[in-house]
Amino acid sequence: MPEIHYATSTGPVNIATLKYWGKRDKDLNLPTNNSISVTLDQNDLKTLTTASCSESFKEDHLWINGETYSLETPRSIQVLKDLRSLREELEISNNELPKISQFKLHIISENNFPTAAGLASSAAGFAALISSVAKLYKLPTDYSELSKIARKGSGSACRSLFGGYVAWEMGNLENGEDSKAIQIADRKHWPTMKAAILVVSDMKKDVPSTSGMQLTVKTSDLFQYRINEVVPKRYIEMKESILNKNFQKFAELTMKDSNSFHSVCLDSYPPIFYLNDTSKNIIKLINLLNEAAGKLIAAYTFDAGPNAVIYYEEENQDYVLGMLYKFFDKLDGWSNDKFNPANAKIFDSFPLSSLDKEIYSQGVSRIILTQVGEGPVETDDVLIDLETGLPK
Ligand code: DP6
Repeated sequence: MPEIHYATSTGPVNIATLKYWGKRDKDLNLPTNNSISVTLDQNDLKTLTTASCSESFKEDHLWINGETYSLETPRSIQVLKDLRSLREELEISNNELPKISQFKLHIISENNFPTAAGLASSAAGFAALISSVAKLYKLPTDYSELSKIARKGSGSACRSLFGGYVAWEMGNLENGEDSKAIQIADRKHWPTMKAAILVVSDMKKDVPSTSGMQLTVKTSDLFQYRINEVVPKRYIEMKESILNKNFQKFAELTMKDSNSFHSVCLDSYPPIFYLNDTSKNIIKLINLLNEAAGKLIAAYTFDAGPNAVIYYEEENQDYVLGMLYKFFDKLDGWSNDKFNPANAKIFDSFPLSSLDKEIYSQGVSRIILTQVGEGPVETDDVLIDLETGLPK
């Protein structure tokens, strides 16, 4: 049996606080605006991937949690082609290196979060795939360079190549060479940022982001205002709020940008609805909480679906999770290690008694308590059976 070469890396989930919505080039996944996100802790949400290659493999193949998936999609083909050509350049410049660039790849991935949670896992998936293949191919670890490849897999995936607070600079070049992720600040700069994800159950299949974006770009008048007037200023302000650890500003901009993104969805023709009644109730609860606190202590944001992500600082945890626990105490995902309900605090002015718990606690299926985290990490795990070349 010919040798199997392999390497393993992880990839994190990121949740945007300034949303990417709109492409100026669909094939290269070039966006119409800059965006910003927070990378989440991989102890709670991550993809672990072993990339392997061998002369004996017959085709490129992907397994996620034991199920097989095709790598013959235009986006995956492009990503693998880019990685192979970087390896080929290395092989040409250094004759000693084994010639593995044209070997077929077996990519084996595991997510540590339930697929049923309905969380977009493609960002973590592409980040883990690209960093594991980059390690296998011994490519230089310039993550901004690699982020351009991730971008072609899925736009938002480029931001998962970094930990902490990350920007995706849209760039201006037609070939996309300047459209890449950069780190605004690492996790340690502002380590007290927490996130609670409320997984909202919804039977309806959402409009996929790619086609939703296309429709918005084509039909929404409001969209032009968003990308030309709103986002450029907000991008500068949000970066500043992160560098200054100014949660008031960060929270305001995050909520406004979520609202702005869902407004251009509604302004698309026909309209796209990602928020449902449960999402709207969560928005109300967060607004009431902030009012009762007399300042912003929690910020909601929603992607292309009804799930809510609530950012807050550790110092306000007892109030933010205290309020969420009042309504969502029955959910899977609470753990005493992360939050002891005995510490729950409710502001005197929070109008708890006037809110019908029956109504407000409905429609959420799980809570994930997490925080700002690191970028991809190379590990010694081996997900491949080195005898068979298949998942262990
Ligand atoms: C609402 O990155 O999933 O989550 O580039 O077509 O793969 P493609 O889209 P995708 O879109 C994410 C949109 C968003 C906002 C964001 O993450 O910035």
